[in-house]
Amino acid sequence: MYWVLVAAALSVLSYSKGVEGRVDLALESYRDIPAPPTFPSSFEVAYNFSLPYEKTIQKDGLIYPVTFWRDAERGVSRMDSFGGRNILISTKDRELEIMPRLQKLICRVNEPDDDDVSLVSAPVLPDVSTWDYNGTVELRGQQAHLWVYEKSHGAKVTLYKFYVAEDGAPLRLHMDGNDMFSGAHFDEYIADYEYLKAGPVDEDVFRPPAICDGQEPQKLARPPAFPLRMAALLPSVRIEGGDELYDEFAAAHGRRHASAAEYEHRRTMFHSNRLLVETHNAANSHNYTLALNRFADWSQEEFEAVMLPRHGQGKGLVARRRGAGSGELPYERLAPSWRLPTAVDWRGTGADGLVKDQATCGSCWAFGATAALQSAYWAATGKKASFSEQQLMDCSWKFGLNHACDGGDYDSAIDYLVNVGGIAKENDYEYLGQDNFCDNHFMADTKKPSSSLVRVKGYAYVPPHDDEALMEAVYSRGTIAVSLDASQPSFRFYASGTYDEAQCMWKSDDLDHAVALVGYGTDEAGIDYWIIKNSWSSHWGDNGYVNIARGHHGCGITTDPMYAVFDGKKHIEAPTEEPVLSA
Ligand SMILES: *[C@@H]1O[C@H](CO)[C@@H](O)[C@H](O)[C@H]1NC(C)=O
Ligand SMILES: *[C@@H]1O[C@H](CO)[C@@H](O)[C@H](O)[C@H]1NC(C)=O
Ligand SMILES: *[C@@H]1O[C@H](CO)[C@@H](O)[C@H](O)[C@H]1NC(C)=O
Repeated sequence: MYWVLVAAALSVLSYSKGVEGRVDLALESYRDIPAPPTFPSSFEVAYNFSLPYEKTIQKDGLIYPVTFWRDAERGVSRMDSFGGRNILISTKDRELEIMPRLQKLICRVNEPDDDDVSLVSAPVLPDVSTWDYNGTVELRGQQAHLWVYEKSHGAKVTLYKFYVAEDGAPLRLHMDGNDMFSGAHFDEYIADYEYLKAGPVDEDVFRPPAICDGQEPQKLARPPAFPLRMAALLPSVRIEGGDELYDEFAAAHGRRHASAAEYEHRRTMFHSNRLLVETHNAANSHNYTLALNRFADWSQEEFEAVMLPRHGQGKGLVARRRGAGSGELPYERLAPSWRLPTAVDWRGTGADGLVKDQATCGSCWAFGATAALQSAYWAATGKKASFSEQQLMDCSWKFGLNHACDGGDYDSAIDYLVNVGGIAKENDYEYLGQDNFCDNHFMADTKKPSSSLVRVKGYAYVPPHDDEALMEAVYSRGTIAVSLDASQPSFRFYASGTYDEAQCMWKSDDLDHAVALVGYGTDEAGIDYWIIKNSWSSHWGDNGYVNIARGHHGCGITTDPMYAVFDGKKHIEAPTEEPVLSA
């Protein structure tokens, strides 16, 4: 009652002051500021974690429903995504990973290293005690208190908004990193909270499910990728540690730090990568530049574990299924040498399509396959389409070494498609960035394939280590799936120019990343290059692309090229420069 009276008096006051709103504003904020919300240390919370960038690819974007439990006293936590399809139970000395394989769940028990990411003490709900209060707004049909935190760093601005219900329940955390010049979001996510229940949490929640019985704990040689992937779904809030450069990066990318040690680890990583980028750019002796990006606070080992799961496994391209049951077709060349133009660039045509984002999942091989398929489909039918990576991840386990987020091969992916009858369109089978179950209608050898499948004929290998053959293939057929060595730090931070890394490897067992070849050309300095599209979003590299120097095997580009084939009439014309006709 008291507040209502004051409010009424104030509105009279501001009204009587006419257009001078100053007094009004100052008094109004004095009147309304509630206490910042505080949260329990043991709790259960559920939220939808969404990455709006993925809306450029599929209509609903990418939304992960997450439930998180913590018992602070016992030092345990558990995180489920997709209603328990992916589960991580984390204690001080054990980490249980539960995930789908075709139509069953499997369990892995790890003994993590001290410095591995642990969810036990991860901050899941923000501490807004130093944020600004910005009044109430309507959200999901109710009035919500809005807390904001804004940080600018050069042309970049990061804005956090935290919405809290009248009763103190968290409603939404929105992290938005924006470039003021381009207007582009360089990182954005939204956590929409369903509920928060204060602890204590029932002990059974943390009990290992029966499928984990008898599993021997394994000590992993490198950081386990699954906890890193799950940790990426935690709504994150900045923690300032007094290191301005690193704190800016951490704010811009929504980083969270569970402990002072974690902060120190990330900060050290960041500065070592920053030094690499600055030294490279200052040396001026390269024909390409580097820039810090969302991988800047990852160690090389973490980057390889999550993004390049095949690195160092010597499993490059060994799992060939030639012969019966394979989708392999004979290689066919369509144009003679003299017809080849000096430059080909399929970007912006139906042979290329959008720059996709595999998020925190080693599914590059599925993106390589769909890039080649999209182009071949356009060549055969004249229609643009975007095809499902998730179908390949969920359902092609028995083909080659296809292991969903833990790596695979684009040729084995098409062996599977030929077996099952075809591929689903992206909007009929959306990307999840996590391992998932395979539905009956998409299982290999099914008698009842899904009716949404587009029939795929097969694929062919372009002769390896032959620049001219590969130029002909990308000219006559459009996008080609290729593999390369992406383990060089210079590749992780590539920004522009012609990439000519002397350390690049090219032998098949050294290749750890699948990408799409979409053209070739020559730069101002006269260096020939390949145009490569990556699947690390348009924030990576040169708007998602990289030019790699042609010759010397191009970091492996010529080692394992593959094109896809659909039934249909070929009508495709490359956007090119005039062929140079030799006499
Ligand atoms: C804070 O409130 C002001 C006034 O209502 C509004 O103009 C501004 O956009 C709000 N800021 C944010 C970050 O929502
Ligand atoms: C979370 O997503 C589910 C499934 O799409 C939806 O039913 C639910 O309303 C969402 N909840 C919130 C809080 O956004
Ligand atoms: C950069 O390009 C020039 C040609 O203009 C070449 O001579 C030089 O070797 C290249 N630099 C590197 C580091 O490859």
